[in-house]
Amino acid sequence: MSCIENIDKSRVPRHVAIIMDGNGRWAAQRGNKRTFGHKHGVKSVRSAITAAAEIGVKYLTLYAFSTENWNRPKYEVDALMTLMVNVIKAEADDLKKNNVQLKVIGDKNSLPVRVCNEVERIEKNLKNNTGLTVVMALSYSSHWEIINAVKSIAADVKKEKISVEDISQDLFDHYLSTAEIPNPELLIRTSGEARLSNFLLWQLAYTELYFSPVLWPDFGKEEFFQAICDYQKRERRFGMISEQIQKPNLK
Ligand code: IPE
Ligand code: IPE
Ligand code: MG
Repeated sequence: MSCIENIDKSRVPRHVAIIMDGNGRWAAQRGNKRTFGHKHGVKSVRSAITAAAEIGVKYLTLYAFSTENWNRPKYEVDALMTLMVNVIKAEADDLKKNNVQLKVIGDKNSLPVRVCNEVERIEKNLKNNTGLTVVMALSYSSHWEIINAVKSIAADVKKEKISVEDISQDLFDHYLSTAEIPNPELLIRTSGEARLSNFLLWQLAYTELYFSPVLWPDFGKEEFFQAICDYQKRERRFGMISEQIQKPNLK
């Protein structure tokens, strides 16, 4: 029986974020180069998008390349960039047909021009779709994002567009690359690593964390549904006590 049968469709997280990890180890286990793992990771991206759309998730954020990943060997970085371009080109029609929108977050200026052009082209091409929004974190890190937000806020204070008193959590949200997107209710990291690796540090403040031992190329729809089922068993208290969650009118 598929785990989808156990999912309560009325309590599906609106936003799921995934740290897609373990491609290199998956390839090494098969005596192959790391890039072989990245290629096989693409089908898991497809499965996650299909699974998320199937159960009514509204936003799916995928960590595809971190700012720290630029420090990997050149051959791997080049292969990853070429893979990005090829995948974007190959998947564009299906994404359009399936009503998927795409938003890329990260330091676009640091991307090779060919990647940047493809990214902008596909974002434009899918912008009238109304279904699942896939947020692709590409050359992204939270430290980069937060510093950018702070610089923009400081500039707007200087220009007297806002005052220091206006600075609030809500205002800060609006200066992040995820402005307008609700914070993730669930974060999945594959491959058994239990860390955030500079991903959505502000946005994950109250997110439920789910660490799966499965390596990304083996993470299919069933594993995605299992993560949703696990999430639905949890009680999210946001600092309150259990009784307040059970009886919202409790004083
Ligand atoms: C995740 O897999 C993909 C990227 C970070 C681009 P890794 O390449 O990190 O694979 P492992 O963690 O070395 O197995
Ligand atoms: C995080 O994975 C980045 C992505 C999945 C894109 P890494 O494999 O780069 O993270 P660390 O270095 O193990 O923390
Ligand atoms: Mg890794």
